[in-house]
Amino acid sequence: MASKFFICYNDCKKGVNALLNVTDERKKESGEKAAEFIQNGMVIGLGSGSTVYWMLKKLGELVKQGLEIKGIPTSIRTEGWAKEFNIPLTDFSQVQNLDLAIDGADEVDPNFNLIKGGGGSLLREKLVDAQAKQLIIIVDESKMVKELGKFPLPVEVVPFGWEVTAQRIAKLGGTPNLRKGDGKVFISNNGNYILDCEFHYISNPEELHNQLKLLLGLVETGLFIGMTDTVIIGCEGEVKVIHKN
Ligand code: A5P
Repeated sequence: MASKFFICYNDCKKGVNALLNVTDERKKESGEKAAEFIQNGMVIGLGSGSTVYWMLKKLGELVKQGLEIKGIPTSIRTEGWAKEFNIPLTDFSQVQNLDLAIDGADEVDPNFNLIKGGGGSLLREKLVDAQAKQLIIIVDESKMVKELGKFPLPVEVVPFGWEVTAQRIAKLGGTPNLRKGDGKVFISNNGNYILDCEFHYISNPEELHNQLKLLLGLVETGLFIGMTDTVIIGCEGEVKVIHKN
C-alpha cells in the first residue's frame, strides 16, 4: 500500500510534478476539478487516497485566498495532509451534517456503485460520506468498470476471530486475504483488520453487501451502494463531470 502514496508523499516534500505518470496526472485533474464544487461556508467530508490529495492541495490554495470552509477527514493520512495545507478541520462532536463529501474510489460501476477501501479507510469514509448531502467521487478513467469485483473487495473485520469471519466470507463465494504491509498485518485507523476478498465479479453489489453485513465479526464492507451523486473522471484530454440521473 505504501507505493500508492509515493507520488503524493514526494509531492508534499519536494514538488515533483515531473514524476507524475499519466494516471497520476488524471487523478490530479479530477481532484482539482472537484475543488470547484466547494462553496463558502460549507462543511466538507475530506475523503482518502492519492486523488483526494490533489483536491486537498487545491482546497488549501482556495482557503489561502479566503474561502471559509471546514473539513472532516476520513483518515489519519488525510488529516495530516489537511493540516499541512492549512485546511480548517472539525469533527462530529461539532457538526453532524455535511454539505458535501469528496472521495476517491477503486472501482465505479455504471450505476455509480463503488468499491472503496484500497487505502484501508473504508469505515471512516462511509461514516463521513453517508452524512453528506452530496457525494462527489473523483477518479481517473481506469476506475470505471462495467461490473464491480475485479478489484478485491476490502472488508473491515474485528481482529479477534478474524479467521472464522474469513471462513464465513468464503461461504459467500469470496476468497479473503488478510491485508499485510511491510510484512506486518495492516491495522485500520479503527484498530481493525482488512480482508481483501476476491469475488472476481459482483453481479448484485447490494445483495452481497447486505449478506456480508450480517456476518459476525464483520464491521463494514467497501461496497458503497447508492451513495454517489456525481463522478468526476480524469480522461485523456478532458475531465468529465457526470451527475447521477
Ligand atoms: C481509501 O481507503 C480508498 O477508498 C480510496 O479512496 C481509494 O482507494 C482511491 O484511492 P486513489 O485515489 O489513491 O486511487
